[in-house]
Amino acid sequence: MKKGFIFDLDGVITDTAKFHYIAWKDLAMDLGITIDETFNETLKGISRMDSLDKILAYGQRDDEFSIEEKEVLAQKKNDAYVQLLADLSEKDLLPGVHDFLVQAKAEAIPCAIASASKNAPMILEKLGVLDFFGHIVDPETLKKGKPDPEIFVKAAESIHVEPQDAIGFEDAQAGIDGIKAAGMYAVGISETEILTGSDLQVASMTELSVEQLITI
Ligand code: G6P
Ligand code: MG
Repeated sequence: MKKGFIFDLDGVITDTAKFHYIAWKDLAMDLGITIDETFNETLKGISRMDSLDKILAYGQRDDEFSIEEKEVLAQKKNDAYVQLLADLSEKDLLPGVHDFLVQAKAEAIPCAIASASKNAPMILEKLGVLDFFGHIVDPETLKKGKPDPEIFVKAAESIHVEPQDAIGFEDAQAGIDGIKAAGMYAVGISETEILTGSDLQVASMTELSVEQLITI
């Protein structure tokens, strides 16, 4: 029996991944670096500063900026990203998410968020689903980002569930790797990517039933 659910945010609860992509693409372009969707896949689940470092390395400009300059660039990206989120509301929940959270609540399965995003509380509030989550892991408290299992282990602890009794939901390979390294059951959610190592992969949460999943 599974006793707790741990969700990534971007690409699982809502499609903010597309806004991260727009904001990074614009910033990269200002720096003379062109990124495409294939490269963008490698940024999913990766913290803001690590994403910037990856983009600079990709454009072979990684030695050119001081930490302070990189902080200005990361802030610029975040300002653009937050602007793109201005109209975010319940309508932006991905298909099946609301139903699934309602089912989990009915079954008394605690839910937590394991996202590298510092914007997670604000986004969940705008989506109207903040109250479904017992805990949101603060990414500032992490020593290592995904694919390290730390964020998933902390999320399970926060809802008092053993890793082997938890199910993690992820749209990115780094996340699936982290969930598996934490010793949890991994559900991959993606229409387009093959998420290697996931225990189950679906195109959307509409394909999932809480009742069935908890018996795994
Ligand atoms: C998630 C997304 C990444 C993003 C990271 C940090 O993991 O998948 O694309 O870079 O969060 O998000 P933030 O909102 O803090 O910049
Ligand atoms: Mg994601």
